[in-house]
Amino acid sequence: MLAYTYTRPGVFELTEKPKPTLQEDTDAIVRVTLASICTSDLHIRHGSVPRAKLGVTIGHEMVGIVDSVGKRVTSVQPGDRVVVNVETFCGECFFCQNGFVNNCTHPEGGWALGCRIDGGQAEYVRVPLATQGLTKIPDNVTDAQALFVGDILATGFWATRISQIEEQDTLLILGAGPTGLCALQCALLQRPKRIIVCERDPARRKFVAEHWPTVLLAEPEHLAAYVREHSDHGGADRVMEIAGSDETFRLAWECARPNAIVTIVALYDKPQTLPLPEMYGKNLTFVTGGVDGCDCKVILERIAAGELNTLPLLTHTYSLREIDAAYSLFEQKQDGVIKVAIRC
Ligand SMILES: NC(=O)c1ccc[n+]([C@@H]2O[C@H](COP(=O)([O-])OP(=O)(O)OC[C@H]3O[C@@H](n4cnc5c(N)ncnc54)[C@H](O)[C@@H]3O)[C@@H](O)[C@H]2O)c1
Ligand SMILES: [Zn+2]
Ligand SMILES: [Zn+2]
Repeated sequence: MLAYTYTRPGVFELTEKPKPTLQEDTDAIVRVTLASICTSDLHIRHGSVPRAKLGVTIGHEMVGIVDSVGKRVTSVQPGDRVVVNVETFCGECFFCQNGFVNNCTHPEGGWALGCRIDGGQAEYVRVPLATQGLTKIPDNVTDAQALFVGDILATGFWATRISQIEEQDTLLILGAGPTGLCALQCALLQRPKRIIVCERDPARRKFVAEHWPTVLLAEPEHLAAYVREHSDHGGADRVMEIAGSDETFRLAWECARPNAIVTIVALYDKPQTLPLPEMYGKNLTFVTGGVDGCDCKVILERIAAGELNTLPLLTHTYSLREIDAAYSLFEQKQDGVIKVAIRC
């Protein structure tokens, strides 16, 4: 079968690999129908994910049809249409029991697919711990509608949950990339009083204005003053940093009101500093981390009910054979791309 493989540092190539087979009773094999490209895949190619293994098939955001299951897989059966979760997790360890599945202690727990083990930019993928890692897609939800559920939509949902957004809040979201836009949609479900989205790219600001006209839009320049003017208590009650630059890391706490919650979703190329003397007395709460992707079922229910819709984010579709072109478009942010689907 065809698989998009991390062949050497800085290089992904389409290669021929054997179709994966069940290795454990808890595995499933999924025939991938649609996969997507995530910014984290670019981080792997750029060498900033040291645990990514050479030779691995890339891809951790996909949907497909269950091909076969091991004896101990209880939640799905062959023929089921499923979302694959970015994280594999056992469901039994201390962290899983508390919903902290990103820190599952199982050897194949956490973000393994498309990083430490073969992922889904391929015709088939082996999913370990499949009872937890696969979620059935409701009949009235299409593959394209479900494509982001296992990764970036799970991230937006988790970021909203840990930000504890309430109806009186002014929420500031830094970054309107695909992950920021998923967080925006999930945050809207909480009905905060106001949402301000700060985005540097005019095309992306325009995209937000077209699809979510109630959102206030801002540029990073003079953002703190803008947020002060458009909030009730001298700054944002909740902030989500989903842009990932030095500037936005600083803006995240500068634009927050005292006692706000600041959620750091972005990954950074280098360490960031918290200038505690400057922040003294602001009494902020910072929450950070890798997504705990354990809400896929609820997210799919919200999509089925018409409350979440990420289809507008899916701006381009390519076949697996054209995946190099898809990467180049996505990486260079050409032609107004937000997300790309790969037909496998
Ligand atoms: N914590 C997690 O588990 C998790 C999961 C998914 C993604 N992420 C991270 O979230 C971040 C966003 O992901 P994405 O796929 O949306 O990436 P992206 O690069 O497409 O989006 C970032 C957006 O921020 C904007 N931006 C950059 N600098 C800015 C500035 N100074 N002011 C205003 N806007 C600015 C960019 O124009 C872009 O639209 C990445 O760092 C990614 O690695 C984290
Ligand atoms: Zn991802
Ligand atoms: Zn676990």
